Amino acid sequence: MIAQLACTACHKIGAQAGGPIGPDLSRIGATRDSVYLRRAILDPNADVAKGFQPGLMPPNYGEQLYARELEMLVGYLAALK
Ligand code: HEC
Repeated sequence: MIAQLACTACHKIGAQAGGPIGPDLSRIGATRDSVYLRRAILDPNADVAKGFQPGLMPPNYGEQLYARELEMLVGYLAALK
């Protein structure tokens, strides 16, 4: 699912090589909780990660994902520690 959503075009996630445009998500769950992560996906410009540019992360994942998929994705990211 992650690959399908092209998150790794901009993010490195663990062993999956990824672009440097967005923050490395390999251990994102160690510093961000699921509430923050859900908002980061649905409304990327609500909080802009320090050192990174706003307006690059696609703002329409909320339309591309079913609620259940979104929760799976958030759960996956929150568990990366
Ligand atoms: C076109 C590039 C791009 C794509 C594709 C992309 N992102 Fe991002 N993402 C960014 C950028 C740039 C930031 C930093 C600016 C910001 O916080 O909005 C970011 C920030 C984030 C953050 C917040 C990180 C933090 O420490 O605050 C999360 C979580 C995240 N992205 C998850 C995802 C997920 C999950 C996907 C796939 C569903 C995805 N991104 C797809 C570019 C992208």
